[in-house]
Amino acid sequence: MQSIFQKIKEIALDIDRAIKDQEMGYSEQCNASGDDQLKLDVYADELVEHGLKELPIVRALISEEKEEPMPVHPEGKYTICYDPLDGSSIVDVNLSVGTIFGIYEGEPCGETLRAAAYIVYGPRLEMVTVTAGDAVQHYRCGSSQLFNLQCEEVRLEEKGKLNAPGGTQKNWSPRHKAFIDSLFAEGYRLRYSGGMVPDLHQILLKGGGLFSYPGTSDKPEGKLRLLFEVLPFALIYEAAGGEAVDEQGRRLLEITPRHPHDTSPCFFGSRYEISRMKEAYGVA
Ligand code: AHG
Ligand code: MN
Ligand code: MN
Repeated sequence: MQSIFQKIKEIALDIDRAIKDQEMGYSEQCNASGDDQLKLDVYADELVEHGLKELPIVRALISEEKEEPMPVHPEGKYTICYDPLDGSSIVDVNLSVGTIFGIYEGEPCGETLRAAAYIVYGPRLEMVTVTAGDAVQHYRCGSSQLFNLQCEEVRLEEKGKLNAPGGTQKNWSPRHKAFIDSLFAEGYRLRYSGGMVPDLHQILLKGGGLFSYPGTSDKPEGKLRLLFEVLPFALIYEAAGGEAVDEQGRRLLEITPRHPHDTSPCFFGSRYEISRMKEAYGVA
């Protein structure tokens, strides 16, 4: 796993440079989820592919930006699923964006997820990693271009203060709206940038809160994709002492996607907010 994390650090430096230097415009294509692809989405995808292909333990790659899984080394052990650039809609206005990786052994699903990592491209370059069964680790990259360990065990508190509610409010269910309103009524503060990486990173490092992206009337299965967005963060939040569930209150890590680009409604938070969600949804 260390060779994969090492390679991810190198890729992060390449993507960081590309974000600073490359053109932001749209490419001519759209991806499997129907999103218009930026030139930067396509270029970041090439950088990740190029880097990870060098590792003989990588069996296949599944990218948000590729329609089909890409076989790499038939003898390899891990399938790596990734979102090369998360937050394409906010990169042009210079908000923080990220890259997300899920490292699976065998057919990718919650049960086969062995490790996860994400990079945050913000005022600073940071990385968070976890290997199943171990602690969540937080790194920061200094001007030496080295990732220094900031925290060797990131932990969520029992209850947080932040609320990051995703999706278009007019398309929320009345039940979801009542739940989100009840958190604000309890004193939670709104923190939502439109990028799940910085939004979940903030909640993780500030000790807790809730990030939600529910099923909506226009997207009943939610927006966020299981293999390279939802499951990696579910592993990280659970390892940090939080919880990650769907609208039935089921652990996201118990879900098996039928298709590489399947999505799921999702709720990530510390224990208190998830127990409130289960009550509000009647799935406690
Ligand atoms: P991507 O840029 O990879 O398509 O993902 C963007 C995602 C996620 O980062 C964010 O939380 C969500 O889209 C925001 O969606 P809304 O604008 O619908 O809230
Ligand atoms: Mn994304
Ligand atoms: Mn993306």
